[in-house]
Amino acid sequence: MCGIIGYVGKRQALPIVLEGLTRMEYRGYDSGGVAIVGAETIQCIKAKGKVALLKEKCRLETIEGAVGIGHTRWATHGEPSERNAHPHKDCSGDIFVAHNGIIENYQALKEKLVRKGHKFVSETDTEIIAHTIEEYAKTEKDLSTAIRLALKDFHGAFGIVVLSKKHPGTLIAARFGSPLILGIGKDENIIASDATAILPLTNRVIYLNDGDMVVLSENGFEITDFKNGNGRQERKTTTIEWKSGSAELGGFPHFMLKEIFEQPQALRDTMRGRLLPDEGTVKFGGLKPFEERLRSLDSITLVGMGTAGFTCLAGEYAIEELAGIPARREVASEFAFRRSAPCKQGCLIAVSQSGETADTLNAIREAKRRGMLTLGIVNVTGSSIAREVDAGIYNHVGPETAVASTKASVSQVLLQEMFALYLARMRGLSKSEGQTIIKEMQKLPAYAEKILTSAGSIKRLAKKYKASRSFFCLGRKYNFSSALEGALKLKECSYVHVEGGNIAELKHGPISLIDKNFPSIVIAPKDSMYEKNKSSIQEIKARKGPVIAITTEGNKELEKIADTVLYIPKTLEMLTPILAFIPMQLFAYYLAVERGNDVDKPRNLAKSVTVE
Ligand code: F6R
Repeated sequence: MCGIIGYVGKRQALPIVLEGLTRMEYRGYDSGGVAIVGAETIQCIKAKGKVALLKEKCRLETIEGAVGIGHTRWATHGEPSERNAHPHKDCSGDIFVAHNGIIENYQALKEKLVRKGHKFVSETDTEIIAHTIEEYAKTEKDLSTAIRLALKDFHGAFGIVVLSKKHPGTLIAARFGSPLILGIGKDENIIASDATAILPLTNRVIYLNDGDMVVLSENGFEITDFKNGNGRQERKTTTIEWKSGSAELGGFPHFMLKEIFEQPQALRDTMRGRLLPDEGTVKFGGLKPFEERLRSLDSITLVGMGTAGFTCLAGEYAIEELAGIPARREVASEFAFRRSAPCKQGCLIAVSQSGETADTLNAIREAKRRGMLTLGIVNVTGSSIAREVDAGIYNHVGPETAVASTKASVSQVLLQEMFALYLARMRGLSKSEGQTIIKEMQKLPAYAEKILTSAGSIKRLAKKYKASRSFFCLGRKYNFSSALEGALKLKECSYVHVEGGNIAELKHGPISLIDKNFPSIVIAPKDSMYEKNKSSIQEIKARKGPVIAITTEGNKELEKIADTVLYIPKTLEMLTPILAFIPMQLFAYYLAVERGNDVDKPRNLAKSVTVE
């Protein structure tokens, strides 16, 4: 959601800024813009729509300068338009700002500034940042002092980058609630909201903290604390291990398909170095200091949003079944607004690919207020969630670029189940039971590879159902998670209406929708729920509803009942969602392609939802 980039160095800034914006396209946006400091003036170009259009507009101008900023905007205040696209400037045209996040008190600030004579041209909250800085700059000669004073006026979340004609050769950025990463190069420095935009230049980075302000020039940078006025700050430099090229298509037509096919490797990387087959358990380096607290947990709450939240539905079953600890999944946004009693022996597990989801961050903060231990299952290293939780487990699946989550989601389920096993072995699950589970986990990458060989037949299935306007996606127990996730994948990529649900609920109302034009996808592996799922499939068929069933290899019985049967290899019941997700991802992908949708960047969506 929104992308920020700023460059200062010896090279031409424009191509670097545009390349950075292209690499952040996956986050979701509706317009973009750049501002480059030239010899005499700042040139600002904006475009509604794709970065390609912005590039085209830039190509028609001569834009030279070694300092520049850029932004991709996902509309919050004001429609997507050129007028509302960032960067925004002050009245004098000296100060330009790009901003991620929301300034909650912008209306009151705007009224004050209008009374002082400031003229606004957009409907955004961002524009008040430029004007507030301008106001302070009237009395403060030093730009960083003016910005520091302005920042104190803002309530809400922001990551900003500012440039000024009067201070060429300098960029100033600040973070409070929205991520910013500083990339350290040789005779050049770069700041961005997303590491993928930095990687072509350097993999040496500093993750800024909330309250940090950084002044960058080609010769160096200085970080200070604008929130508490603590002066110069030292921050750790980190080397990012993701390769710049891992965010490229590598021959696939879309990132979503590439990432679906990366899942066998993603599962291997999730387990790498963590399974202890001889001991029948799992090790998580980051959890070591908390072992005593983990031993005495009396409850676990799993939170996430969207896909990440649905994976928690599999995690809660696994934790209860293996470790015997009461576990429940809650939608992160709702947990954050409950004010329940302190829960000092409880633990909150926040699941998030990006590590920046605002609702999930709020849940962590609420859990801390309750005295709970907070853990994170996060893919993006150095992200806000990774840094706010007491301890974390990284997915290690590399950058996920398509908006629709695929490889991160299977890894999220697997990690929750590995965590369940880790807890269970602390609480009396036998070594041999642990070893059986580990053996099955080790087979998952090969099983995923096998499922991917059915991509061709799933593509044909998508052609067959191309015209369907509504689907059910149903399952129960572990695969209730798969049902909700399958429904979400279809909705977000192919824009068809899909109701995901528990198949046991069908008879209690939803079955009235079933007719020959209302297909159902039913996840029915040969497990403890199989007979019940089979009866439900029969009830759907009795009402002439088409059924696509996902079941276990070797189970031919459903071929006599369902219209189409897709197979997943036989595994432990708790691991079935990891496999069941895959055919549904492929179906959603191919249906989206059939319908001519923008698969990697579905309309209205953002990869990283950094606002509540
Ligand atoms: C759907 C999808 C979203 C995310 C959700 C949480 O395919 O990707 O539903 O799962 O926005 O995002 P993270 O995992 O970054 O917290």
